[in-house]
Amino acid sequence: MKKIIKYSSASTTFYFDSSLNELQNLFDKKSTFIITDDNVFHHHQKKLKGWNVLLIKAGEQYKHQQTVDDLITKLIEAGADRKSTIVGLGGGVVTDIAGYVASIYMRGVDFGFVPTSILAMVDASIGGKNGIDVGVYKNMVGIIRQPKFLLYDYALLKTLPESEWINGFAEIIKHAAIKDAAMFKQLESHTLKDFRKNTALLGKLIERNALLKAKVVQQDEFEQGDRKLLNFGHTLGHAIENKYQLPHGHAVSIGMVAAAYLSKAMTGFSSSEKLIKVIDAYGLTSFYDFDAKDALQKMLSDKKRVKNNINYVLLNKIGQAIYKPLTIEEIAPVIEAIGRGA
Ligand SMILES: NC(=O)c1ccc[n+]([C@@H]2O[C@H](COP(=O)([O-])OP(=O)(O)OC[C@H]3O[C@@H](n4cnc5c(N)ncnc54)[C@H](O)[C@@H]3O)[C@@H](O)[C@H]2O)c1
Ligand SMILES: [Zn+2]
Repeated sequence: MKKIIKYSSASTTFYFDSSLNELQNLFDKKSTFIITDDNVFHHHQKKLKGWNVLLIKAGEQYKHQQTVDDLITKLIEAGADRKSTIVGLGGGVVTDIAGYVASIYMRGVDFGFVPTSILAMVDASIGGKNGIDVGVYKNMVGIIRQPKFLLYDYALLKTLPESEWINGFAEIIKHAAIKDAAMFKQLESHTLKDFRKNTALLGKLIERNALLKAKVVQQDEFEQGDRKLLNFGHTLGHAIENKYQLPHGHAVSIGMVAAAYLSKAMTGFSSSEKLIKVIDAYGLTSFYDFDAKDALQKMLSDKKRVKNNINYVLLNKIGQAIYKPLTIEEIAPVIEAIGRGA
């Protein structure tokens, strides 16, 4: 199914339920450059015969300037010009880098993505944020530019490790919690296994999530309002992810539980137990014994902080989120209670 989402100055064509093989019907192999990582290449190289492939090493630690420089050198050597198209085939690390390289190479060439992880399919490849890390600082350098297309091939997920499925589902649970009560019910009544073995069911879920994010971005491309709701669970999540080397999805799920408890105090939200149940059922972490003082300190120094407030995404109810600046005094008691393991 083809769907076009129009943003302020560009539009993205979504090819859902498609196949990597379709790429050759959309683009000329000679002028297209596929950036992928060595894991994805290892599993799917047969499908890449005849394409120009630029390989990068897999992993967040390679999402940095050196990789960008290497790719740019390879593009020059391969003769890529302003009419070339760059395709990022991979998880969020690959799509972030490929989108960034394409945005700056010769001041910008066309690009699109074939996301291969759940996280990239429902989150990272959508919305036009492209960029890299600088040392320990995540996503410090980048540019907003929308991909021309996103092509979804669910068969590529067959080789995705289970831990990455679980990570990706944190963002799906997030989407359901902030915007889609019916999807939340669907998550409650199914298991990860159901989605993994039923491609039709999975395809519909991915499409629903991709369009949910695309529409939020469409309404608020430059993050003045609704797009901030996508940070649900990420305020505390980011504050503990690095320190404890938590997988992103788990850091976010711990953050969502904290946000649910804060919501209970601030909005009267009454479904924390339901959220915890879903988080546990999908193999994510609901509680973790983190250092609350350290986490609060990190939240105060976050780049998205405004004055002395910490901007928090809270839930009124499942499927309805609000964005609220909270003072450290309001947040601390809840975080401290959870940090001890609640
Ligand atoms: N631009 C955005 O708006 C946005 C939003 C969210 C996250 N991100 C970024 O996304 C990145 C995380 O993305 P991710 O979780 O996909 O990580 P990732 O790209 O590192 O992929 C996770 C692992 O799975 C492997 N992999 C991916 N697809 C596979 C497949 N089909 N088969 C086998 N192995 C496969 C990768 O090689 C990697 O080892 C972070 O850098 C984050 O900052 C960006
Ligand atoms: Zn996230």
